[in-house]
Amino acid sequence: MTLDPKLTKLLNEQINNEMSSSYVYLAMAGWFERTPYTGFAKWMFAQSGEETTHALKFYQYLVDRDAKVELQPIAQPKMDYSSVVDAFEYSLKQEEKVTQQINDLYEVAEQVKDHASKNLLLWFLNEQMEEEKTVRDMLDRLKLAGNDTASLLVLDREAGNRPGAGGGPGSGGRP
Ligand code: FEO
Repeated sequence: MTLDPKLTKLLNEQINNEMSSSYVYLAMAGWFERTPYTGFAKWMFAQSGEETTHALKFYQYLVDRDAKVELQPIAQPKMDYSSVVDAFEYSLKQEEKVTQQINDLYEVAEQVKDHASKNLLLWFLNEQMEEEKTVRDMLDRLKLAGNDTASLLVLDREAGNRPGAGGGPGSGGRP
């Protein structure tokens, strides 16, 4: 079954959205690397990698459906944040935006009755739900910690131990 042209266009756009998201998190990791919070830097670096994986999943899907891959430029991400909470609030907004994009894509897949695409997008919707929850939970605890450096450092250490967060420049771990 040929992939609907509108759906093809939107799936290509989603490659860009995911790569842009990856770039946002990489910039955030870079920002955290210049603070004492190296655990949060690892967390964001790992998240950047996950977003690249998402982009590649959409890429592979287009290839598997024999559709044309059309890549667009990636915008420069936000480079600076005013606090740890500010960065995580931005992260939550970023995830909510992506959830909306996937939701919109699902609606189009439904309109054109493309069940394989709906299946792919359902996987992403579940993934988004988990990502939003993870960020929201950390944000709640960061707000509770406030300006208490000792509490922030405990959360930072925990963030650095997040599965997949062992990598990152300077960590000596898996990138
Ligand atoms: Fe792939 Fe977290 O959006």
